[in-house]
Amino acid sequence: MHSIAVDGPAGAGKSTIARRVAKELGFIYVDTGAMYRSMALYFLRHGIKGTEEQKVSDACSDIEVTIEYEDGEQQVFLNGENVNAFIRTEEVSMMTSDTSKYPKVREKLLSLQRELAQKKNVIMDGRDIGTCVLPDADLKVYLTASSGERARRRYKEQIERGIQCDLGQIEKDIIARDEQDMNRAVSPLKQAKDAVLVDASDMTIEEVVAKVVSLYQNR
Ligand code: DC
Repeated sequence: MHSIAVDGPAGAGKSTIARRVAKELGFIYVDTGAMYRSMALYFLRHGIKGTEEQKVSDACSDIEVTIEYEDGEQQVFLNGENVNAFIRTEEVSMMTSDTSKYPKVREKLLSLQRELAQKKNVIMDGRDIGTCVLPDADLKVYLTASSGERARRRYKEQIERGIQCDLGQIEKDIIARDEQDMNRAVSPLKQAKDAVLVDASDMTIEEVVAKVVSLYQNR
């Protein structure tokens, strides 16, 4: 099986790029952030705070996350319920960053992610794909962009979804999330030694997609 790992900070365009590259190469796109988000949704719904590591860890055994594909789009199921429509709010984003640092939460999803990559050719995006989940990926990309640019994109995305939000607040949240994701003890976000750095600040989506496809084909 072949695999491409795409890591980078929030809002760098990982999912947009990975989805399009998947289409061009005939790979499956695996969005690992959505899996962490579905677990965070469970904690929120059960009144568990992001700071309560013991409660979060205990709750992990009550959670089952599964993945299906509908028209090529990944659907995440939380204990049998399709939760795709509920996991993109800022509240869930922050809770996800708070709880994805706990080893119990990460353990739970690691095997699911590896299993997917064993069965199909995948392009998988997240924070620790190149460094931890798929250390032998055929290509590793570290995709980044300036925080201002990333905030503008996230803002546009939320407005298009009909969600009211504030650009300044989004940039603050993005910076806080990156800080937390980069500085946690377990599987922090960092560029793998053998990853190719792609800074998308001044690139169009098409340019980034073409770059990743050509990196894969010429690897
Ligand atoms: O990519 P995203 O914005 O959907 O990710 C949401 C959060 O999940 C982010 O704060 C970091 C965490 N995450 C992680 O720790 N490891 C991954 N492989 C993917 C996401």
